[in-house]
Amino acid sequence: MLYSDKVMDHFRNPRNVGSIENADGVGEVGNAKCGDIMKIYLKIDNDVVTDVKFETFGCGSAIASSSMATEMIKGKPVDQVLTLTNKAVVEALDGLPAHKLHCSVLAEEAVKAALKDYFDKNGIAYDASLLPDVSCADCHEH
Ligand code: FES
Repeated sequence: MLYSDKVMDHFRNPRNVGSIENADGVGEVGNAKCGDIMKIYLKIDNDVVTDVKFETFGCGSAIASSSMATEMIKGKPVDQVLTLTNKAVVEALDGLPAHKLHCSVLAEEAVKAALKDYFDKNGIAYDASLLPDVSCADCHEH
């Protein structure tokens, strides 16, 4: 079986799909090679992600990764969300095929782009090394 049960579950029933009006942070990233796009909306209160929604125009692994990522960051303090990695998302999904790992990178980058947007909008200082420039649409082959 190429895909784990968890990947199939999140692909078929993605959690937190949609958008948030007046979101505190919005992040959109794309993969230049496959053309897939992911957008994450964050609602943040007292430094806690109280709500998160996503829209993904992409492959099944990208949908499963964003769905899992939203579940992992919902209710979490911002500083914890900052440390989210695509590796953790992949582990939570019980793995992805090697040629699909870059799809999970898109999820990590979209979350980080949304956080960056939140920090920038609110004039909050942040450690730039934790938020590399994720706005570029370069392909990330990992
Ligand atoms: Fe493009 Fe999966 S193939 S994100």
